[in-house]
Amino acid sequence: MIQGSDDVFEKVMDLAKRRGFIWPTSECYGAVAGFIDYGPLGAMMKRRVEDAWRDFYVIREGYYEIECPTIAQEAVFIASGHVKGFSDKMCQCPHCREYLRADHVADAGNIHNASAMKNEDLAAAIISCRCPACEEVLGTVAVFNFNLMFSTTIGPGSQRIGYLRPETAQGMFVDFARLLRFYRDKLPFGAVQIGKSYRNEISPRQGMIRLREFTQAEAEIFVHPDEKNHHPAFGRYADYRMPLLTYVHQQNCENPVEITMRQAVDQGIIANEYVAYYVALTHDMLVTIGIKPERLRFRQHLPDERAHYATDCWDAEVFSPRFGWVETVGIADRTDYDLKAHASHSGTPMTVFIQYDEPKKIARRRIIPNMSVLGKQYRLKAKAVFAALEKATPTPDGADVEVDGEKIHIPANLFEVRDEVADIRGEEIVPHVIEPSYGIDRMCYAVLEQAFDEDIADGETRTVMRFSPRVAPIQVAVFPLMNRDGLDTIAGEIIQSFRKKGILAEYDDSGAIGRRYRRQDEIGTPYAVTVDYDTRENNTVTLRNRDTMKQVRIATDGLPEMLEALVNGNVTFESLMPQNKSL
Ligand code: GAP
Repeated sequence: MIQGSDDVFEKVMDLAKRRGFIWPTSECYGAVAGFIDYGPLGAMMKRRVEDAWRDFYVIREGYYEIECPTIAQEAVFIASGHVKGFSDKMCQCPHCREYLRADHVADAGNIHNASAMKNEDLAAAIISCRCPACEEVLGTVAVFNFNLMFSTTIGPGSQRIGYLRPETAQGMFVDFARLLRFYRDKLPFGAVQIGKSYRNEISPRQGMIRLREFTQAEAEIFVHPDEKNHHPAFGRYADYRMPLLTYVHQQNCENPVEITMRQAVDQGIIANEYVAYYVALTHDMLVTIGIKPERLRFRQHLPDERAHYATDCWDAEVFSPRFGWVETVGIADRTDYDLKAHASHSGTPMTVFIQYDEPKKIARRRIIPNMSVLGKQYRLKAKAVFAALEKATPTPDGADVEVDGEKIHIPANLFEVRDEVADIRGEEIVPHVIEPSYGIDRMCYAVLEQAFDEDIADGETRTVMRFSPRVAPIQVAVFPLMNRDGLDTIAGEIIQSFRKKGILAEYDDSGAIGRRYRRQDEIGTPYAVTVDYDTRENNTVTLRNRDTMKQVRIATDGLPEMLEALVNGNVTFESLMPQNKSL
C-alpha cells in the first residue's frame, strides 16, 4: 500500500519517537531545531544504511575510507571558497521577527530562480509573499547573505579561527598528496569518508531533512581528465535503465524518461561515463536499502543552478508525500577546481605524473642565463631573474622580464638560446574529481517513511515497518511459546547461536504470541522464530515472515546460516515454503 498523504509524516514521526528511532535532542531543556538524536533502533538502522553504503563504495569499488577531523583551520575553507561564498539568502519577517530563507519564501510564492537573483532583486520580488511562520505579507525586507559555517577558535585564548566542516569532501582534497602516494601514484583512485558535517541552517523546519548537524557519506574519485569517458567497469551499468529528468525536460516542463546509461552517455545527456556510472550505482544502492524505484528520480542541475566549477551535476531525489521531491544524493563532476584551489593556496603540488607509453621527442628552446654576470648585477633578485628569463620569449635584441612588478630588459649577450630535442617521459596533470555525495539522514528518513505501512491482521489494524532486511535494526526475534518447560532455555540457545553469527536477535517472552509479533512488526523485524513444544521433540521451530505473515517449519540445525542468507538476500522466504522446496 503506497501512502499518499501528509499524515504519513506524523505517523512515522510518532512511531519513531515512541519506539526509539529518532527523537528531538536535549528535549528536557527544550529541543533545538536542526538537531536530532537517533535512539537505540534508529542508531542501529543508520549504522546499517552506512554499512550498505560501505559495501558499495569500499568493498565493491575498492575506495578506502579515511577519517578527518570535523574542525579544520580557516585556510582550508578560504581555499575551498566556503569562507567567501557558502551562504544562503536570508531576510527577517518584520512582523514576527523570524529569520527566513529568502529563496524558500520566493519558491513558495512561485518565484523561480531565486538563488540566482541579486539580493536587491530578490527583496523586490518577495514583497508580496507571505512569511511561512506568521503568514503575514512580508512587505519591504532586506535580503542578505548568511554564511552557513559554524566558526570557532582553536586552542585557549587563541586567535586561530577554525570552522566545523560543512562537508566531508575537503578532507579528501587536502589529503590528496598522501592519498596519491598510498595508491602508488596511479589514477584513477578514490577515497571516501562517512562523518558529521555542520551547517548553521537559517530556519530548519523539516525534521530530518534539514539539520544543522548531519551525516554525509562522500566519495571523491580522482581521474585523468582525458579518461572520464572510460570508466573501467562501465559495463556493469551500461544497460541499467532508470528515469532521468534532464535540464531540457525541466525547461520544457516534461516528465523524466527511462533510458540506459549507455544511451545517456552516447546522447550527451550525462557528461561522461564516470558520472553515469555513479548515477546508476546510486540508484542501485538506494533501491538496495529499500527506496522504491517509483519514488526515485535523477534530476540534472539547471545550468544556472550548477556550482560554477561543476560541468555536470545530478541529484537523486526521493519523493515524500510531505516534502515533495527531496535531494538526497548529489553526483557532480567537480573538474580540477578543488585540487587547483588547494594547490595554489597551500603551495603543495596536487598533480600526478603520467608517464607516456614511449618517451616523446619534443623540440624546445632553452634560455641559459650568464649566471656570473647576471648574478653580480642582480644579487638578491638574481634567482627570480633567472626563473623569469627561462620563461621569457627572446628577441635578437634581448628579453624583457618582470620581477616583483619591475620590468627588466636583459641584453642578448647575457644569455644563450639553445634549440634542442628533448626526450620527455611524461607530464604532470591535475586530476578531475567525480563526487557522489550522500546525505545519510535524508536516506534514513526516506527509509522510515517508505517502510511505514498499515494493513489488517486478525481483524485489527497492524502497523508494520517494511524495512529491507539489510537495514532493519533487529534482524530476528525469538519467542518461547511459554516461559517454562525448557522452551525458554532452547530460545536462549537459539539467540546465542544468532549472536555468534553477528545477527542482532531480540528475545521476547512476554504476552500472547500475536502481541509479540505486532511489537516486532512495528519496529520492522523481518523474521521471528517461535520455539514450541514440538521443538523439544523434533528440533524444528516456526519461522515467520513479517511482510506476508506466512510461517514455515524449519530445523534448528543450520538456522543461523539460513537467517544470514535471508537477511543478505541470498535466499527468499518463499523458497522455504514446502510447496517450493523441491523446485
Ligand atoms: N560535497 C558536496 C556537498 O556537500 P550538498 O548537495 O551540499 O553537496 C550533499 O550535500 C548531501 O548532503 C545532500 O544531497 C543532502 O542529502 C545532505 N545534506 C546537505 N545539507 C543537509 C542538511 N542541512 N541536513 C541534512 N542533510 C543535508
